[in-house]
Amino acid sequence: MSQCLICQKDYEPFISLGNMPIANGFLAEEDFDREYFFEMKVGYCDHCHMVQLAEQPSREMMFHENYAFFSSTSTLQTAHFKNFADMLGERFLLGDDPFVVELGSNDGIMLQNLAARNVRHLGVEPSNNVAEVARSKGVRSISEFFDEDLAEHIKAEDGQADAISAANVICHIPYLHSIYAGVQRLLKPTGAFIHEDPYLGDIVEKTSYDQIYDEHVFFFSVASVSYMAEQHAMELFDVEHLPNHGGSMRYYIGHRGARPISDTVTEQRQKEIELGLEEAATFDRVRQNIENSRDELLSLLTKIRAGGERIVGYGATSKSTTITNYCGIGPELVEYISDTTPIKQGKFSPGTHIPVRPYEEFANNPPKYALLFAWNHAKEIMANETAFTASGGKWIVYVPNVGLIDDSV
Ligand code: TYD
Repeated sequence: MSQCLICQKDYEPFISLGNMPIANGFLAEEDFDREYFFEMKVGYCDHCHMVQLAEQPSREMMFHENYAFFSSTSTLQTAHFKNFADMLGERFLLGDDPFVVELGSNDGIMLQNLAARNVRHLGVEPSNNVAEVARSKGVRSISEFFDEDLAEHIKAEDGQADAISAANVICHIPYLHSIYAGVQRLLKPTGAFIHEDPYLGDIVEKTSYDQIYDEHVFFFSVASVSYMAEQHAMELFDVEHLPNHGGSMRYYIGHRGARPISDTVTEQRQKEIELGLEEAATFDRVRQNIENSRDELLSLLTKIRAGGERIVGYGATSKSTTITNYCGIGPELVEYISDTTPIKQGKFSPGTHIPVRPYEEFANNPPKYALLFAWNHAKEIMANETAFTASGGKWIVYVPNVGLIDDSV
């Protein structure tokens, strides 16, 4: 039995994905002996509807000076955050001298757009190496973990915020009550807290279980976010489904009664009920789907390697750590993983130790098969890789189904 991080009720995890390393913990060979593993189990709480990791490594093990994730590695992401900043400006920054706080502001990918317009802002980013990149772009950033105390501190220094935003951040934080309590204090009476995160509905529909890794402690839905908001005298007033990260939901939260509730909230909640997201039995089916996906992927890779062809991974994503470790995929199946992020190159993937190499190696000596670990960027990658495909290269995918993109082995 595990205890729900949100409502403290007991629940039974519906799956264990086995021993997992830190998903973003790309490492050097000399560090193999010291690698940290934890048992990764996920459960559904049928009281507050929160799907969550039963155990999570300490935050210092995941977010630190050498954190390997830089938001600005994808042009589509850059465009997404420009749109996010425009949306904030149009909907929520209409008064005099508005103030925006971003939680997990990373390398300033969103706030740089507001900094350029001289909007008062503050980025809160615990990983100092990425925050330093933001500062170099003129984005005011502090390297701290956001919580109730920090919210009070920011309020005393800068006043309350018109908007508090967070993209792919809130789902990382186990002490969610402290975050919501801090937001409640820091937000102006008509302010909006907007957070977007991978959406439980997409994970269930697409069996995209690679969204489950150490950093993602919560898999939110309209039901669970509504519950959280209510606990803190706030309410969900709008939602927006987004294609990012393989399917995300943007949640708009305000002080209770401050704004009209959009129909999108009730409509999306109804879709969740139809999808079974408020029933424990659904998650037994999710476990079955995950196990089937693993078996099919392993047998496809094994068959290709038995035929003597090379397979290279494309994108050393955090998500790939779940796939490689849960399925048992090592260098005997995947020769190396190609990645454009310099800090990951020359290192090895967490747990199963597949080498990570610069993209040039893939471009100069393409394999027959590329395993698309960065499937959430498929559109951008396919547009860039027409030469690989034209020369007979094949893409192996596993979301929503295991197979080849053109389905011909
Ligand atoms: P990301 O989508 O952020 O996934 P996660 O949240 O699971 O880590 O990571 C994308 C990774 O893929 C990143 O390391 C950069 C790499 N990448 C490439 O190597 N080539 C590409 O064309 C793209 C789009 C990404």
